[in-house]
Amino acid sequence: MNREMIQQWLFFSIVATLFTSTVRAQLVECDQTGVDGISIANGCIVKPLYEQIGTGHGDENTEGSATYLIKRDPARSIRRGRQLFQRKFSLDEGQGSRVNSSSTGDITSNRALGAGLTDSCAACHGRPKGAAGFGGDVATRPDSRDAPHLFGLGLVEQLADEMTTQLRSVQSTALEEAISSQRRVQRTLSSKGVDFGRIIAHPDGSVDISGIEGVDADLRVRPFFHHGQTVSIREFVIGAFKDEMGLQAWDPILCTVTDVNNPQAMTSPAGFVFDPALDSFERPAVCDDQEDADGDGVVAEIDPALVDHMEFYLLNYFKPGTYRSTRGAQQGRRTMDRIGCLGCHTPDLHIDSDRRIADVETVYDPINGIFNDLFATATTRFEIVDDGHVYPLLLPQENPFEVKNIFSDLKRHDLGPAFHERDYDGSLVTEFVTEPLWGVGSTSPYGHDGRSINLDAVIRRHGGEAQRSKQRYVNLGGREQQQILEFLGTLVLFPPDDTASNLNPGTPGNEDDIQNPGAHGTINLGALFQIPEEGSE
Ligand code: HEC
Ligand code: HEC
Repeated sequence: MNREMIQQWLFFSIVATLFTSTVRAQLVECDQTGVDGISIANGCIVKPLYEQIGTGHGDENTEGSATYLIKRDPARSIRRGRQLFQRKFSLDEGQGSRVNSSSTGDITSNRALGAGLTDSCAACHGRPKGAAGFGGDVATRPDSRDAPHLFGLGLVEQLADEMTTQLRSVQSTALEEAISSQRRVQRTLSSKGVDFGRIIAHPDGSVDISGIEGVDADLRVRPFFHHGQTVSIREFVIGAFKDEMGLQAWDPILCTVTDVNNPQAMTSPAGFVFDPALDSFERPAVCDDQEDADGDGVVAEIDPALVDHMEFYLLNYFKPGTYRSTRGAQQGRRTMDRIGCLGCHTPDLHIDSDRRIADVETVYDPINGIFNDLFATATTRFEIVDDGHVYPLLLPQENPFEVKNIFSDLKRHDLGPAFHERDYDGSLVTEFVTEPLWGVGSTSPYGHDGRSINLDAVIRRHGGEAQRSKQRYVNLGGREQQQILEFLGTLVLFPPDDTASNLNPGTPGNEDDIQNPGAHGTINLGALFQIPEEGSE
């Protein structure tokens, strides 16, 4: 096929599927619940798990494999990831146990004792409905941890990864300079406009890192977990399957990267580069597809193909939306700038090379937002590469992307005693990553522990490094405080099944049929599917 034919064919396949397939918010697999052929859209997952695994991890030429779909039918991989995220796993599929069958052990050395046991990621990340949202809580610490939403997760992963590379390059250039000039060289560690303190490089090749701030000594920006621990979505997915659901995933990628004898660099199908020469990564609980680590008779409970789809789904997950922007809200944002909130809650951050294949922009639009006043516009960000295969490669353009309204510097801060966290052994965690404020209008209660009942309370709880800024908030008049809360209220999450989009705009004015997703609109990934043989799911 030449380029024009491919484009024509892409266009027709989009139009052809636009009105035929529906988005499933699903919880159960149709085959397991006897509701196959159900007429209610979103009732269940049509494809059984083994069909979602297909031919496994594979590569871009293994038909039906996860890598094949990620490279040639990426929206379908995202749909599979979404169904896995919402899926209720069964005991037969390996769900459980919580660490071991009696759930005993020392929680200070194994946090999983206080995490699971549930049967679905959506049990804790299920709000709003059908989203990879928020809503759960785990007792991994005495005051427990609150589950953040996962909107925009891929942008966060990429920003932190690029920041790491930039900080390390500041360090290596300073070292080269110190050695060649035989003088001490001091540099500010900054990346994307965020300042992580300073380093001093000495002519003997040593580096004084006592002046670094909010990042570990290895200069790796770790965005995941409230205290900033995990680097990649893939590691988190494998860890969450295990700790929250008792499902063991074996992974040829992370197992190779973390091999004790011969660690090798690997790139996941979603494009994350794991280089053991630069970083250490988390080793999966099982590294053999025949291993039955929890003795429940189920080996390698989660196939690597499922990890691939889940990672790719979360990499591409929609960023939060923006609700009605009133004049008061706009004034509130300006006031936040004036009183120093944005010193940590950095509004926008720039990605140099974006690995996502699509972006979804979701805004207040009471006319086209039939069900919830929001309308989403999906824009593809892949390029078509004809490699002679019947379906071309659809690869990320890797263009720059401006991440707007994230409101985080991805740095750790000490907000004083009111945020310090006691551990079971009496020790204290004092620093937490600046919580991105996107979505914050939807996610009460607040704080890493969910102990602040509303936005005003969590702002007043700030102290330590944010003491000055908090005091300026407290000193504002009630009206200005209200405007800040009004602005924060415009940063919202949304249910993808109920949000009209250019992929399924619905039919405005059809109130009688409003419960029908075809009428109120959805974010219908099926509209972007490429390979008809894989079906409409
Ligand atoms: C039992 C509740 C629960 C379940 C089930 C659960 N999570 Fe979570 N998740 C949490 C909590 C709580 C946190 C915050 C952890 C912390 O900071 O200690 C979290 C954090 C995360 C994060 C990091 C987000 C960030 O910004 O730091 C990711 C990614 C994630 N979960 C993915 C998943 C996936 C994928 C699944 C299913 C395989 C899953 N979770 C299942 C409770 C849960
Ligand atoms: C010194 C850096 C810093 C400054 C200044 C700062 N914040 Fe924060 N903010 C944080 C960190 C870190 C957290 C996460 C705290 C936690 O949960 O442990 C946070 C959390 C929040 C949250 C809760 C988010 C959630 O989902 O739970 C809100 C809301 C918030 N900040 C608003 C503000 C406002 C408004 C201001 C200005 C008055 C401000 N912040 C100033 C660092 C800062």
